[in-house]
Amino acid sequence: MAQKTSKYQRGAWTSQSGFILAALGSAVGLGNIWRFPGVAYQNGGGAFLLPYLIALLTAGVVILLLDYAIGHRFRGSAPLALRRAAGRPGETLGWFQVMINVIIAIYYTAVIAWTSMFFIFSFKQNWESGASTQEFFLFDYLQLDTENQLTFDLVPAVVIPMVVFWVLVLAVLALGVAKGVQKANSITIPLLFVSFLALVIGALLQPGAVDGLNAFFTPDFSQLGKPQIWVAAYGQIFFSLSVAFGIMITYSSYQKRRANMASSGLVVAFGNSSFELLAGVGVFAALGYLAHTQGVAVGDLEGLTGPMLAFATFPAIVSALPLSWLFGTLFFGSLLLAGFTSLLSILEVVLAGFIDKFGLSRGAATWGVGLPMAVVSVLLIGTTTGLITLDTLDFFSNQMGIVASAIVTVVLVIWVNRRGGELAGHLSAISTFKVGKIWQVFVGILAPLVIGYMLVQVIISTVSDGYEGYEGWYLGVFGWGTLALMLIASIVLTLLPWNTPVRGFKAWPPIPGAKPADEIANAAAFDPSAGKES
Ligand code: ALA
Repeated sequence: MAQKTSKYQRGAWTSQSGFILAALGSAVGLGNIWRFPGVAYQNGGGAFLLPYLIALLTAGVVILLLDYAIGHRFRGSAPLALRRAAGRPGETLGWFQVMINVIIAIYYTAVIAWTSMFFIFSFKQNWESGASTQEFFLFDYLQLDTENQLTFDLVPAVVIPMVVFWVLVLAVLALGVAKGVQKANSITIPLLFVSFLALVIGALLQPGAVDGLNAFFTPDFSQLGKPQIWVAAYGQIFFSLSVAFGIMITYSSYQKRRANMASSGLVVAFGNSSFELLAGVGVFAALGYLAHTQGVAVGDLEGLTGPMLAFATFPAIVSALPLSWLFGTLFFGSLLLAGFTSLLSILEVVLAGFIDKFGLSRGAATWGVGLPMAVVSVLLIGTTTGLITLDTLDFFSNQMGIVASAIVTVVLVIWVNRRGGELAGHLSAISTFKVGKIWQVFVGILAPLVIGYMLVQVIISTVSDGYEGYEGWYLGVFGWGTLALMLIASIVLTLLPWNTPVRGFKAWPPIPGAKPADEIANAAAFDPSAGKES
């Protein structure tokens, strides 16, 4: 039988530092700078730090290492690596993770687009033209429709930067893993750290900063008994660390076979949380200053959570500060850099899945898959009701999709396929420290118990109370309906035949007693000299 040839080739990082920077670039994102300070404040201020740190250690680091081990040992995108680790159900889970990234990319690009506009507005503080910064953001800029939940009326000031960023991010991705993603991160991450540090120091030097820090750090221990606080802490850690939705599986599959994975996991996890705490300090110091200029307590300020914190409250702070343009550009510039590198990782999961399964060239995958996503993104989120759709998609894909994906990963990989010992052995064999029984207990028992509890809580409250008062049909389509669509797409993609030379894979290093990787029986046969698998 004639052998087919293939353009199939997997990407690779060129160095350990390239991998760590990219993983940090993915983790440090919008979640750190705007989501964390607001979530922390809403959930007991200083008291939130305890559940947050416990969530980091008991689930964040633990699941991060699980993702690393799966991606690195089974060397594939989420569908491929999980297929090898857990058979067909694993592949469906992998595609579900790809779908989570499709949904996140659709709205994440919009937030990056708003950020770029606010970066430009910073030079002249355009928001001062609104009745208030809140009015400016919601009505002058987003042109929010308060009557309807769904319109297709496009807002040019949102659509234009969205198109620009979609093209930009796809162009970087088309360049490949080393020349595109790694290179972009090596430029943006150092720039991000310098600009954000300058911002935090500047904020700390302002009068009233200390009152902001008191509001952030003063514990309210009575809050610790509330399950909601714990759910918020675990949710924040997952989103912020980019774990359980395919990113770290994909990124670690591009690492060479002999690489110190466990140590780099710790660097990424603690680096990300340090940045997050720094963001909390910076944002609350700035809020302290705003409260000082208005003669009120920090707790009396409005708009401390969600998009309002970054796009309504922060502009008010910027206007009140000396050298407003500098603070504004530093803040929105940092947000832009952080968001852009995370968006690269979110889309890389999607491209890698399609490249691995269908043997597409990188260019074909980037434009063939990326452009339709861009169109949907602009039509759904670049509208006068985009904020509502964004909020709904964010809630369902994060609080339910990612959390469900974390549990199913543990169930399929650790419980059903019994790969806990093998994955711990894998990390230990290639890393400078050993990942042993304690990790296995955390990943196999404690983490799923806590996460399972979380998921049940969120499902019960959403079924009984709805979400944000949105109408039933709307949640049916954009919430539950989207989750159902993601699942159906994952099953269909699993059923399609593999078109790449992924047969005959052997996991390395050999671990005594490890079950062999699942053989993908319907993978196409290629002339091995034509395509190269790493
Ligand atoms: N980890 C990314 C963030 O924090 C997705 O925004």
